[in-house]
Amino acid sequence: MNILVVGNGGREHALAWKLGQSPQADRVFVAPGNAGTDLDAENVDISATDFESLIQFAKQNDVGLSVIGPEAPLAAGIVDAFQAEGLPVFGPSKAAAELEASKVFCKEVLRNADVPTADYQVFRNGSSAKRFISDRYHTDTEDVPLVIKADGLAAGKGVIVCHNRKEALEAVDRLTSEQEFGTAGSQLVLEERLDGDEASLIAITDGQTIVPLSPAQDHKPAFDGDTGPNTGGMGAYSPTALVDEKMLSMIDEQVLVPTVHAMKRSRRPFRGVLYAGLIVTNQGPKVLEYNVRFGDPECQPLLMRLKTDLVTLFMATIEGRLDQIEPLEWDPRPAVCVVMASEGYPGSYEKGFPIRGLDEAEELENVKVFHAGTRLHNGDVVTDGGRVLGVTAIGSSISAAKLQAYKAVRCIRWNGAWCRKDISDKGLTYASE
Ligand SMILES: Nc1ncnc2c1ncn2[C@@H]1O[C@H](COP(=O)(O)OP(=O)(O)O)[C@@H](O)[C@H]1O
Ligand SMILES: [Mg+2]
Repeated sequence: MNILVVGNGGREHALAWKLGQSPQADRVFVAPGNAGTDLDAENVDISATDFESLIQFAKQNDVGLSVIGPEAPLAAGIVDAFQAEGLPVFGPSKAAAELEASKVFCKEVLRNADVPTADYQVFRNGSSAKRFISDRYHTDTEDVPLVIKADGLAAGKGVIVCHNRKEALEAVDRLTSEQEFGTAGSQLVLEERLDGDEASLIAITDGQTIVPLSPAQDHKPAFDGDTGPNTGGMGAYSPTALVDEKMLSMIDEQVLVPTVHAMKRSRRPFRGVLYAGLIVTNQGPKVLEYNVRFGDPECQPLLMRLKTDLVTLFMATIEGRLDQIEPLEWDPRPAVCVVMASEGYPGSYEKGFPIRGLDEAEELENVKVFHAGTRLHNGDVVTDGGRVLGVTAIGSSISAAKLQAYKAVRCIRWNGAWCRKDISDKGLTYASE
């Protein structure tokens, strides 16, 4: 079977790499891909949002499975477009992808399905949100435990966690600024600020059966000790003891099952990856948000550990047969992914620096270097984004996997390369290994 992966990040490199290992896979194409996907699969020069050209390519190349990586094409209806042409495609419909594309819709589903989540209110414009804040909080010194979220997709920049009134009022102004957020901030969610550690629980569902993957943990802040500005994710590891067996079944019962049923009832059956962003409070796990695709970088350590054939899993999802597949098989060993980034990221950065030491890093045992922002230029792999590589290793313990991942990181260099040094350290605090 020929397979098409749509997207160009570390997640898509991991997907193409894992799908390519399937005995069912013939050619694996990635559109548009990066330097890493060009080495492990075949790049196709079509943008992830050019549905017409993607469909034409899939038809001409006998593609039997298309896998959509990022949220933007899903929210724009790529799955509906492929399905209308009779092409098998893995991912949620446009209507189901609203779960990520609209935080207002997500909160409504959570509330109606009685899923634990932060209390909230929706505002249709900035002035009513500011009036709410000023009516409720009268001084600049008191704690204002609010989180303010733009409704629409904002590439991880649409959420501001507030601590005082000034921050909250400024957050409203910022998120409703059309210049920065377009229409994403035309509605706002104001919600209660919760306290706890975060985990990602990613599940595959065909709208009926839910198959949770192993729990993972991302590291959003740029710098060590979870300081500095938020990023797309500076590293991840799996499994995490923050979510043990008992909590996993609690999440299944209280979060995943009611959500999938609610989506079915509202005639938006959910098929694809349902990613619950969770915060573990002292009242138990609560949902911060849903994503409708794999997390990047959580996908990298997860797929390094997954032994089950991904083509079988995705085809069963598309065909509504998830109830018939064997339980997932995992490598019990933990995997750690360290993101190497460009100087300046998550702010502005330069591109085009040649990357050295990739072969040396990949020769190390139990290491895979997934590419994110890279491209080939005159035979050289050069930097082409903020997050450049996801250096991933598997090991007998979290510490062993971490050690190996950083050993590989030390082989790789380019002008301005940097990474967090503490990826997975949080994992050691949840349970002794
Ligand atoms: N209610 C909340 N309480 C505390 N922190 C929150 C809350 N909602 C969001 N956050 C923080 O903001 C981050 C981003 O919020 P999220 O809802 O996941 O939006 P997105 O990923 O689309 O930016 C979360 O990972 C979490 O750290
Ligand atoms: Mg999030």
